Amino acid sequence: MSEKSLSITNKTTEQTAAYPLLEGTLGNPTVDIRALKNDLGCFTFDPGFVSTASCKSAITYIDGDRGILLYRGYPIEQLAEQCSFLEVAYLLIHGELPNSEQLQTFHNEINGHAVLHESLRVFFDGFHYDAHPMAMMVGVVGSLSAFYHSELDVSDPEQRYICATRMIAKMPTIAAACYRHSTGAPFVYPRVDLDYCENFLNMMFSRPEKRFLEQAHAIDDTAVKALNLLFILHADHEQNASTSTVRLAGSTGANPYACIAAGIVALWGPAHGGANEAVLSMLEEIGTVDRIPQYIAKAKDKNDPFRLMGFGHRVYKNFDPRATIIRKTCHEVLAKSSNHEPLFELALALEELALKDDYFIEKKLYPNVDFYSGIIYKALNIPVDMFTVMFAIARTSGWVSHWLEMTADPSTVIGRPRQLYTGAPRRDFVPLAKR
Ligand code: SDX
Repeated sequence: MSEKSLSITNKTTEQTAAYPLLEGTLGNPTVDIRALKNDLGCFTFDPGFVSTASCKSAITYIDGDRGILLYRGYPIEQLAEQCSFLEVAYLLIHGELPNSEQLQTFHNEINGHAVLHESLRVFFDGFHYDAHPMAMMVGVVGSLSAFYHSELDVSDPEQRYICATRMIAKMPTIAAACYRHSTGAPFVYPRVDLDYCENFLNMMFSRPEKRFLEQAHAIDDTAVKALNLLFILHADHEQNASTSTVRLAGSTGANPYACIAAGIVALWGPAHGGANEAVLSMLEEIGTVDRIPQYIAKAKDKNDPFRLMGFGHRVYKNFDPRATIIRKTCHEVLAKSSNHEPLFELALALEELALKDDYFIEKKLYPNVDFYSGIIYKALNIPVDMFTVMFAIARTSGWVSHWLEMTADPSTVIGRPRQLYTGAPRRDFVPLAKR
């Protein structure tokens, strides 16, 4: 065994075996324990995957202790400052930043896939007007393989790429359709003369009764800039719960639309992408600054299930770099926004009080990406129940990048975890008459 290895001894059997210590470009060395069961007859136990790497990946790197986030090696701060969302989506998929020609080609590919099949548009009529948009997203995205079944051979790189760009392109159109359905407004089709974020805002908020020219100027540049930033910050985040779900579904050979639908389901939970919606509900429940201490006390109370939404992270034990960037944009958006947003002041006061509290300091609980994003979405007149949909639009670029990376990797095997069995030992059946 090479010198870079880890020896494990089973004290009950006095057996010892050595396992390779794998080293990546950055980050913790990783013990390759695939042979552990055969060597020492043991499994490892790590229910939340706190210390377990599920795959090799070259897409995103996070250093939770130092608050570092890199997309294909580029710091999130630099990308957030200088890129368009499609530029970042291209980087995540291809591994390199596009030149002008590559970016224009990618933009055209995305625009080419943005429209929905008319039969899919009818699909929405089956939902009640007050269906949660995430429920509609799951249903509609999961059904895409029923409409686009011509390129579903996941062994073909070209078909995989078409599916990936189709997903990135259609998510804003589907999301806007969910919103328009909930308001009873007619669907608005994507336009080839608008960029990704402008198109989304136009599909969400343009009104057919307004003159074309008026609509063209109806899209606020501040809103487009803020949305572009939020989409970049939410694009990818290594092996988070929803991305791991996409990878696990993809490892069975399931079609990419079903895999992305699985990712949307996992993202919906309030412990994950659903937190941005939960943060707004929490701030609205707290209501005023003087009520903050009682809610911080609830968050610290072990007997109270209440958690401070938007705080804490499995990996970041320092500031989430995305939260730092979003906080700054919050100020800019609200400074230009006509509607004064008291929730922002409340969020700032809550952050200040929580970060001074010993409990949050000791447990290294900092604001995460979801703490401020909802406030910007609210300032952009995005309804609260659409917040996680916004997260899903952005994260689709990360999900498809991981799906492409996994399906292109010949060493990919089906994900099939083991367990620590705690149920009944073997026993014989007892007929009903004798129970
Ligand atoms: C996202 O993984 C990713 O990368 C996710 C994400 C991405 O981009 O994909 O970054 C997006 O999901 C961000 C997280 C959004 N979720 C929330 O804001 C919900 C509130 N946060 C918590 O539910 C929690 O912090 C998690 C789920 C985010 C992390 O949970 P962990 O890592 O399992 O931490 P834990 O539950 O083991 O908590 C450690 C301790 C516990 O106390 P003890 O049992 O040690 O006494 O900290 C406490 C927890 O009770 N704690 C909190 C808390 N978060 C953790 N206490 C109060 N409020 C909180 N928010």
